[in-house]
Amino acid sequence: MSTPVLRYGADYNPDQWLDRPDILAQDIELMKKANVNVVSLGIFAWATLEPAEGQYNLDWMAEIIDNLYAAGVSVDLATPSGARPAWMARKYPEVLRVGADRRRILFGERHNHCYTSPVYREKVKLMNQQLASRFGRHPGVVMWHISNEYGGECHCELCQQAFRDWLKEKYGTIEALNKAWNAKFWSHDYPDFDYIESPAPHGEHSVHGLKLDWKRFVSHQTIDFMKWERDCIREIVPEAKVCTNMMYFYDGVDYFDMAREIDLATWDAYPTWHKPTETIEQTAMDTGFMHDLIYSVKGQPFWLMENCPGPTNWQPISKGKKPGVNIMAGMQTVAHGGDGVLFFQWRQAQGSSEKFHAAMVSHDCREDNRIYMECAELGSMLKELSGSIAGVGREKQAAIVYDWSNKWALEDAQGPRNKGLGYKHELLRHYTGLKQNGIDVQMINEDSDISGYKLIVAPMLYMLREDFAAKLRAFVENGGTLVVTYWSGVVNETDLCYLGDTPHDLTDVLGVRRLEIDAMYDSETRRCVSVCDELPETASGSMLCEVAALEGAKALMVYDEDYFAGAPAVTVNAFGEGKAYYVATHFEEEFYKPLYELICDGVVSSCWPGHLAEGVVACSRGDYVFLINTKDAVVWFENAELAPYATAVYKKNGDKLDLLYNQMAFNWSPVK
Ligand code: GLA
Ligand code: ZN
Repeated sequence: MSTPVLRYGADYNPDQWLDRPDILAQDIELMKKANVNVVSLGIFAWATLEPAEGQYNLDWMAEIIDNLYAAGVSVDLATPSGARPAWMARKYPEVLRVGADRRRILFGERHNHCYTSPVYREKVKLMNQQLASRFGRHPGVVMWHISNEYGGECHCELCQQAFRDWLKEKYGTIEALNKAWNAKFWSHDYPDFDYIESPAPHGEHSVHGLKLDWKRFVSHQTIDFMKWERDCIREIVPEAKVCTNMMYFYDGVDYFDMAREIDLATWDAYPTWHKPTETIEQTAMDTGFMHDLIYSVKGQPFWLMENCPGPTNWQPISKGKKPGVNIMAGMQTVAHGGDGVLFFQWRQAQGSSEKFHAAMVSHDCREDNRIYMECAELGSMLKELSGSIAGVGREKQAAIVYDWSNKWALEDAQGPRNKGLGYKHELLRHYTGLKQNGIDVQMINEDSDISGYKLIVAPMLYMLREDFAAKLRAFVENGGTLVVTYWSGVVNETDLCYLGDTPHDLTDVLGVRRLEIDAMYDSETRRCVSVCDELPETASGSMLCEVAALEGAKALMVYDEDYFAGAPAVTVNAFGEGKAYYVATHFEEEFYKPLYELICDGVVSSCWPGHLAEGVVACSRGDYVFLINTKDAVVWFENAELAPYATAVYKKNGDKLDLLYNQMAFNWSPVK
């Protein structure tokens, strides 16, 4: 095993610059100066690698990999399946996707191939094996970047048949499927599996069981394609390490399932820093949630595969990052368990739709460019910290349940609020409340091993599988602390409503029973008041107000208006050796800090022992504690000063924390 290092670099697309040896030479020089030690190479290079069917041209890539290696830059070598050459689309139209409207797309764009097509799989195999045979044992190739941002779905006949086969495997008989989907509704019973069609705007879109299984199938088929790509490489290089880049709150692939099939989890982050509607701390929380999710899907250090060193060019308003924020975002990645910080992309493209997307090297090609200077500064910081931090894992403390099947079912259900249930906001409220108390958070799904966690938070766990409910019950019985919110324990794994008391299988654990749920218009809130000493005197519920009966739990907050005044809004129940809290509505953000101060007391402790100043985020990795200042102002800690947007790293030394690293501010002004 080689010693872990913090990886730093970018997507590198030299196939766009092969006629500019001067540019390629400058790339190497500037990479060295910025302490770049890895690049993701050739993600969209298929047309250069195979300009005509079966004519492979890999020599240019060999030269690039050698030059990079000589300069100390390793390669995360891409399989180019994210975009295919025009000749292939013309000769084999089946590689192109068919939409839900059953229309096949024309050649163009990217990330739009059929995951089932045997022709595409075969072409990918030939290409991946060319790359693996030629470069798989090159000492510079340390990782394989399988495709790019897998996503989307295809409704072609090949995919329809694969879906039917998948359903047959899952349900065995058509009777079992009809029952699981409640297909009697509107006489939608399927006489046989070959009647089944994927959901379509001009076809079926009311059978929720079908839609849920289609989502599961698309995720399965996408992962199956990724496994195919991986195994094509491993046939040649069995020890090859693979990763793929995941996306921000991406709905279409279950990343817990995907992560099982790869060696390294990575994701692409494009936060809109400096939004007038949000503080930098709030943006950092939203990004932090994703970092923690990507850490959790494998339970090991991850890479940030892409982020933007300046403005993107595809957001409604593509604002730049103020001086220091790019470094802060890189350090935030490391604080949450990142072992790699990479950008999209190394050099700004000269043409096409990404020409104004920032890159480490801008169109001016200058090393005194502000973005390059800040990137170089970050590169040297990561180099300095690498020996201590790289490879260090995180302890299990608190977990938030984030389960793709639950999300799919929850968001598809026609229920109390069809204009959005605010699931993501609900997740972030709990996450932010925990983080503001200095608590380290990881995410679990209903298949996860929950041992080791002391606190489990299950926001809107609408689809609660009975086996997971049993795990949660045992967790509380054995001394764990559980938080469950409104709209939980409503349906089973095929989206059939549970009959009897809900939250299903948890009413005795929580000591409450759901009576009904009321939907709020966007402008509406319902006042709640405290009936305990620890929580704010008043708070307001919005979005959904669940009305429950106390069956053993103690109310901590109660509703104070509307016909459900007096009903519990927050409760706690002692169960076995542990405790279970129930939160009946979506409160304002400020409520969750005191709520989690109460819940965490004596259960999980803050990774920062002292007072955590507003706007400062604390994270821990093993013995290291990171403090990130999200404010454009100096903050004081004990006897250390934390510069604007800067990060300090402490190391545990018995009961004490020693200051290991204190970053200087990155100052830059256009005025000399
Ligand atoms: C995605 C892609 C990249 C690039 C960036 C631009 O994340 O993976 O190829 O297009 O967006 O932000
Ligand atoms: Zn298809």
